[in-house]
Amino acid sequence: MLLHNIEELRKQRKEWQGLKVGLVPTMGALHEGHLSLIKKAKETCDRVVVSVFVNPIQFGPSEDFDKYPRTLDKDMELCNKEGVDIVFAPSPKEMYGEGSRLSNDTLTYVCPPFFYVNKLCGKTRTGHFDGVCTVVLKLFNIVQPDYAFFGQKDAQQVVIVKKMVKDLNVPVEIIQCPIVREESGLALSSRNKYLSEEGKKDALVLSGILNNIKACYNRGITDIKSLKETAYSFLTEKQDLEYLEILDRDTLEEQESADDNSIALIACRVEGVRLIDNIYLKG
Ligand code: PAJ
Repeated sequence: MLLHNIEELRKQRKEWQGLKVGLVPTMGALHEGHLSLIKKAKETCDRVVVSVFVNPIQFGPSEDFDKYPRTLDKDMELCNKEGVDIVFAPSPKEMYGEGSRLSNDTLTYVCPPFFYVNKLCGKTRTGHFDGVCTVVLKLFNIVQPDYAFFGQKDAQQVVIVKKMVKDLNVPVEIIQCPIVREESGLALSSRNKYLSEEGKKDALVLSGILNNIKACYNRGITDIKSLKETAYSFLTEKQDLEYLEILDRDTLEEQESADDNSIALIACRVEGVRLIDNIYLKG
């Protein structure tokens, strides 16, 4: 069932009293990565809602909000195939009202702690995680799920969402799902659509670097500087590196040396497309 309206969603939700409800928040252009979250939700819950909403307030002024792929008909088809109960696809007006400018001048925003935001993607995407937390909390309030499903692909996002849920006592359990990759190793992303065939090959350096760091760690190298330095040698002029970090996977804190709780995270631009990926050094 496709719903665009918050009131209709609430009405439906009332009929699910006593059932386990799962929410998979997405921005659409669904691929196997999203579908893995939906499948997990179907396994865990009695009813599943997938939200499809390209959230304007999480895009910076020079980012790809306008050109972000919107493929609702295809998304509906995929969701129906997976047995999703409701696809919730509100308009920006339905979510944020009429106002011509969406900003924290006029709207209540959720601001995650600076410590979590002032690094990795948050460093260059100012305000991005405020936008993410604001929309995710709104979706939680609208759908009132028992479980919500997020991908490790956006590792900083899931850490921040978990922190918000804990700090604001939101009654939802966050389930994190592993990264789904193409056979080549490229992490699936809606933004891969912007890449040429050659760009896709150049993008393989991201997962290559992460696999190499993991292999080095598993051979006993724990010095973070050495792990990163080996990685830099894989980069060519085709990858414009934004960051490469090795941090604690739960807290995103810097570590003295890599350990079994470390995560390596990378962001690069390839053909101007911003790509992110990460890997747990153990497990
Ligand atoms: P979107 O980029 O559409 O991603 C929706 C969910 O799918 C996220 O939890 C993301 O981590 C997960 N995902 C994406 N690619 C994946 C992959 N290759 N393997 C596993 N999971 C993957 O993330 C967002 O939307 C938005 O920020 C949102 C949370 C919906 C808030 O607007």
